[in-house]
Amino acid sequence: MSGLLIEKAGAVATLAGEIRRGGAQGDAAVFSGGSLAVACWGDRILAVGWADEVHRQIAAEGLPINAFRRLDAHGGLVTPGLVDAHTHLLFAGTREAEWQLRARGAGYLEVLAAGGGILSTVAATRAASDQELLSGGRARLAQMLAGGTTTAEAKSGYALDVAGELRLLELTGRLDREGPIELVPTFLGAHAVPPEFRDGAAPGAAARPGAPPAAASAAGAPPAGAAPGPEATEAYVAHVIGDQLPAVARQGIASFCDVFCEQGVFSADQSNRILRAAADLGLALRLHADELAPSGGAELAAELSAGGLQCLSADHLAAPSDAGIAALARVAEAGAPVVATLLPATSWFLGKRHFAPARRLIDAGIPVALATDLNPGTSPTLSLTLVMSIACVEMGLTPAEALVAVTINAAHALGLGERIGSIEPGKQADLVVWDVPSVEQLPYWLGGRLARSVVKRGRAVFERA
Ligand code: NIG
Ligand code: FE
Repeated sequence: MSGLLIEKAGAVATLAGEIRRGGAQGDAAVFSGGSLAVACWGDRILAVGWADEVHRQIAAEGLPINAFRRLDAHGGLVTPGLVDAHTHLLFAGTREAEWQLRARGAGYLEVLAAGGGILSTVAATRAASDQELLSGGRARLAQMLAGGTTTAEAKSGYALDVAGELRLLELTGRLDREGPIELVPTFLGAHAVPPEFRDGAAPGAAARPGAPPAAASAAGAPPAGAAPGPEATEAYVAHVIGDQLPAVARQGIASFCDVFCEQGVFSADQSNRILRAAADLGLALRLHADELAPSGGAELAAELSAGGLQCLSADHLAAPSDAGIAALARVAEAGAPVVATLLPATSWFLGKRHFAPARRLIDAGIPVALATDLNPGTSPTLSLTLVMSIACVEMGLTPAEALVAVTINAAHALGLGERIGSIEPGKQADLVVWDVPSVEQLPYWLGGRLARSVVKRGRAVFERA
């Protein structure tokens, strides 16, 4: 085994300790104002703190100092590797035409109801080869790594049939094995009702590989079509529960099941049935909750968690009801917290003036995480530091609260808080050395390329040229 010694850090935000909520949301557990170091041995953190103390601990372990590769932090900030707890990593195609439609007044759900939006990405993804999906995924992961992300959740949900959803999870598993970013696969079969289930189409009809995107065309014309009726949505929910979920569980790659719980997409009742079926098959749970309107998503997440099912995260929450916030506060207080994973880049990119009520959620004692929501429709960004900036400007988070939200709390939102998300002896050595001297400057340099070195499992896997 060999070691890595990061030295001459001006500050280290360790994020040591438990999941953060309430007043603790802003506690980044920072050492600053001297010569600081972090020592790693193998894939684990060995010691962190004042350089002389770290050297003493290395000696106390009986480890030879020349077995440590040295990495000079040049007075910069060291943090845990960032954790992106909500991405739609694998997809084909882009949707800039839809962005322009929206700018002219078309609503996000209107475009989806008409067969565009998510469904245009479904058509492009079904038509793409494994190689195309993998190379798109690799290119995005490389940029995420360069931005300091060392772990990311990755959802399926752009195939919406058994074989295609299994394929997306299989490719996610392959990219996880390739590394260095560690991926947490989530099954999102209930992302939208696919065209073959919509009224007028025979339920269960095979997808046509190679079908052209039904979407907002490149010419920017609004797509024609209608929202799926209640029977079509129910038939698809039955397919997700009866066919997709059992196949996904047999495949054994997905850790989580997610549902787009939203008025006009999947109701809280439908989401509840899908998520309970997933829990019966051994999957942990998370959901897209109350993104555009109060839809019972926050209430459902809290109820599942209170019932002992592992519902670790309720995401978006741009429009939760008062009852939903109260329910999330109760389970947090009771020790079964559902992390509120907020996605402000999505609200911003959709041109909303309305963001998740982060301050209210924090004041209510609900642990808050932040994630990119990386996807081609509503959040084509790979940068967690940009998301931190938007959170500080638009939702009033402090930089320290935002850092907590992309490290220890995000790790807990993925059920990985005991292994990653903080710099503590014994935890996995996932680290970033930044070109800024303080936590406050991380979200300050808007869109900046600030990561100098990124370490995954004790290995330097990215060094900025
Ligand atoms: O989290 N809201 C649902 N799903 C994604 C958007 C996916 C898409 O538009 O392709 C989201 O914003
Ligand atoms: Fe999403």
